[in-house]
Amino acid sequence: MNALIETIEVVVGEAEGGTDDTRVLKLARPDGEPLPAYRPGAHVDVYLPNGLVRQYSLCGPNAQAPDYRIAVKRASESRGGSEWLCGQAGNGTPLRIGMPRHAFSVNEAARHHILVAGGIGVTPILSMAYALQASGESYQFEYFVRSDADTVFRDEIMASPLAGQTRIHPALAPQAVRERIAELLAAAKAQSHLYVCGPEALMQTTAELARGVLGDANVHMEAFAPSALPATGERGFAVMLDTSGKTVEVPPGKSVLACLREAGHEIESSCEVGVCGTCMMRVIKGEPDHRDSYLTDDERVAGAHFIPCVSRSKSPVLVLACEP
Ligand code: FES
Repeated sequence: MNALIETIEVVVGEAEGGTDDTRVLKLARPDGEPLPAYRPGAHVDVYLPNGLVRQYSLCGPNAQAPDYRIAVKRASESRGGSEWLCGQAGNGTPLRIGMPRHAFSVNEAARHHILVAGGIGVTPILSMAYALQASGESYQFEYFVRSDADTVFRDEIMASPLAGQTRIHPALAPQAVRERIAELLAAAKAQSHLYVCGPEALMQTTAELARGVLGDANVHMEAFAPSALPATGERGFAVMLDTSGKTVEVPPGKSVLACLREAGHEIESSCEVGVCGTCMMRVIKGEPDHRDSYLTDDERVAGAHFIPCVSRSKSPVLVLACEP
């Protein structure tokens, strides 16, 4: 386990709200102590026994609750992450998770919130809806699904106070989805912020339409896939490990991770596309050129961490460490 990453031991429990291909799980500390509170929209990294790391949004109705809830959709081409959680994790199975991460949050200055979810993308959006409902803020929740039977948390939502602000849209064709989003935006109140999570096509369509009406800063997206293919860079630079003092050249077209490994350094990795954080290193000196989808905006500004599987350097030399 990467020493820079703080993890928590939890056990798995069954929860309600799933569908044929989506399992809802409760995660709790084995000793019953409360897990850290989180902000709606947060996610955790789940470290699976097969070495994979997967990101799941915390979708419980109360971000202060002592345990967490996640929903896992069985991916049609699972590489072992969703497959294991849907098929093999049983009641009481131990797991390690990371601390809640906040890359997707409601904007506290917004006067109105437009929540748009597609399929399993409902998970971060649902926790936002519960929080907005509880605080009495103005919001609307649009939930696009393949069919009624595929609607995760359908009964719960419709039996809750969210029902009054929620519209579930089963089986809409892409053009109809586009028209519905355009309709929402045409009626958007001043200082509205829009949040979207779901399939790539829905996110792109929604973001493109919303940016034109609300402006870039008022549109927020959650994606657990790399935003683009990992950039291998057009310029070379050097990396120095503070432990060995040795310098490793990183040419264009090759990742820092690959170069460090070739030079004999052992660095853990999992996704190798900048999503999971497993390979994270500490920055001692130099200016990173962040290309990952893992670090939050605040972490990028702080400049203390670096994701070597995809990120580059703006300075000619970057000095890194593996240990805290
Ligand atoms: S291995 Fe996943 S972010 Fe680098």
